[in-house]
Amino acid sequence: MASRVRGSPGSLLRWAASLLLAVGVGRALALPEICTQCPGSVQNSSKVALYCKQTSELVLHARCCLNQKGTILGVDLQNCSLKDPGPNFPQAHTAVIIDLQTNPLKDDLANTFSGFTQLQTLVLPQDAGCPGGINAWNNIIYYVDSQICQGQKDLCNSTRDSEMCPENGSCAPNGPGLLQCVCVDGFHGYKCMRQGSFSLLTFFGILGSITLSISILLWGTQRRKAKAS
Ligand SMILES: *[C@@H]1O[C@H](CO)[C@@H](O)[C@H](O)[C@H]1NC(C)=O
Ligand SMILES: *[C@@H]1O[C@H](CO)[C@@H](O)[C@H](O)[C@H]1NC(C)=O
Ligand SMILES: *[C@@H]1O[C@H](CO)[C@@H](O)[C@H](O)[C@H]1NC(C)=O
Ligand SMILES: *[C@@H]1O[C@H](CO)[C@@H](O)[C@H](O)[C@H]1NC(C)=O
Repeated sequence: MASRVRGSPGSLLRWAASLLLAVGVGRALALPEICTQCPGSVQNSSKVALYCKQTSELVLHARCCLNQKGTILGVDLQNCSLKDPGPNFPQAHTAVIIDLQTNPLKDDLANTFSGFTQLQTLVLPQDAGCPGGINAWNNIIYYVDSQICQGQKDLCNSTRDSEMCPENGSCAPNGPGLLQCVCVDGFHGYKCMRQGSFSLLTFFGILGSITLSISILLWGTQRRKAKAS
C-alpha cells in the first residue's frame, strides 16, 4: 500500500505522501509488514539489536533494523509462535541478520530464503536445520535452545559454470544453498539461447547434490515480491 503511493505518478498522491513524511508519519506507514507481524519490538539482548546498535545510521523499528533508506538489514521474529515465516518474509531478502528462535517452525526452510543473498547470520530454533544444509554455511553453532547459521557460502565458487549453466549463462548466488544461472549480456530466454536486449535472469539451474536445494522458479518469487509490495 505504502509503496504504491510512493510509486504513483499522481502528483496529488505524491504531495500527500510528502506531507505525511513531513509530519513524520510517513516512516511508520512505509514500515514493511514483516516488521510489524509480530507484537513488540526487537529484544534488547538480541543479536539483531546488537548488530543495529553497532552502526549509527541504522535504526530499530518494531521487529526490524533499517537503514536510512528504509532497507531491512535485520529482523528479529523470535518468540512469535511462527509455524512458518509467512507470506511477508520475502520483504526481508536484504537482511544481513535474522533471528527466528523460540518459534515452532516446521523443519523445511530450504526455499524460504530464496533471494536472501546478503544473509550472514541466521538464528534458528534448535530443531530447525540451517537452510541449504551444512555446505551452505561457513559455520553452524549449536546452543542448548538455538543454533546459529553463520557466513553464507558462495556455492558458485565450488561449482563450475559449465556444469550447471548453459553456454551463455553464468552462475550467481541466490541465497543459502541456492544458485541461479544468469544470462550474459545480450542473451536471454530458455538456456540463454535467445539473443536480444533482455538481460534479466532467466531460469534457475538445478543442482544434483543432495545438500543443495532446488530453486523454485524465478517468476514465483517475483510474483510473491510483487504481491508483497
Ligand atoms: C534496554 O536496555 C537499556 C539499556 O541497555 C535499558 O535502559 C532499557 O530499559 C532496556 N529496555 C528493555 C525493554 O528492557
Ligand atoms: C515469549 O513471549 C511470552 C509472551 O508473549 C513471554 O511470556 C515469554 O517470557 C517469552 N519468552 C522468551 C524466551 O522470551
Ligand atoms: C569465491 O571465490 C573468490 C575468488 O576465488 C573469492 O575472492 C571469494 O572470497 C570466494 N567467496 C566465497 C564466499 O568463498
Ligand atoms: C553463445 O554466444 C556465442 C556468441 O557470443 C554464440 O556464438 C553461441 O551460439 C551462443 N550459444 C548459444 C547456446 O546460444
